[in-house]
Amino acid sequence: MIFYYSGCGNSRHVAEQLAARLEQKLVFIPQAARQGEFDYALAEGESLGFVFPIYSWQPPRLVLDFVGRLHLAGTPAYIYMVCTYGDDAGMADHMLDKTLAQKGLRLDAAFGVAMPNTYVNMSFMNIDSPEVTQRKLARAEEMLPLLARSIQERRKVVELKRGMFPRTKTYAIGAGFNRSLSDKAYCATDACVSCGRCVEVCPLQNIALVDGKPRWHGHCTHCEACYHYCPQHAIQYGRATRGKGQYHYSD
Ligand SMILES: Cc1cc2nc3c(=O)[nH]c(=O)nc-3n(C[C@H](O)[C@H](O)[C@H](O)COP(=O)(O)O)c2cc1C
Repeated sequence: MIFYYSGCGNSRHVAEQLAARLEQKLVFIPQAARQGEFDYALAEGESLGFVFPIYSWQPPRLVLDFVGRLHLAGTPAYIYMVCTYGDDAGMADHMLDKTLAQKGLRLDAAFGVAMPNTYVNMSFMNIDSPEVTQRKLARAEEMLPLLARSIQERRKVVELKRGMFPRTKTYAIGAGFNRSLSDKAYCATDACVSCGRCVEVCPLQNIALVDGKPRWHGHCTHCEACYHYCPQHAIQYGRATRGKGQYHYSD
């Protein structure tokens, strides 16, 4: 069984590819959480996977919250995570491992896949250039069969990029990021045509159209789906996103 979360499609693609290659069931974490589905039965010898993007060098808070509430019947034969990131993951695997440990479970393996960056809410951050985007996507496609094989063979490895100062990034900057999550700066410009795409793509169902314009309802995780999928490029995050590009995974 693979539990996954994705805002802009990178992690969804990885999760879908792995589920197809490994013939495993996929569960979308935000939907399961909304429906109060935290109880799952594992077959004899079944593995347990988590696929998600890195947010500020941590697993997204909603992923850790879900894992904290997960109740499994049956013991997983192998537990792994696959994170996607623009650059590096810090100590994100340690955070997931600690949350699993509270349930008497341990991560056997942690893998990382570099994918195009989606974070644009800070003035110095932008999407990757077209060349970097293509290079990352091509490399990820090459990695997927190898990743599936490692999981099939139940290899106990950590294959992800931690980057520089991983503890500071995960435990200091990451904690600050989670404390400051707010959707108050998101807004739609006059280019908005009320198409409702932002409502559709928000994984947390946090957006509704009010008088034809998107309104955010305070449960945002800054996944950037509303910003990147908007066909009019009408969504902005204060001044931070002005003049920046859009990217989301597309097949
Ligand atoms: C809120 C947010 C925080 C991010 N933080 C990091 C980070 O700490 N390190 C990193 O390398 N990439 C970071 N990224 C980039 C994403 O991890 C990366 O683009 C990921 O593949 C997006 O996955 P998705 O398309 O499934 O949402 C961040 C993206 C977002 C939206």
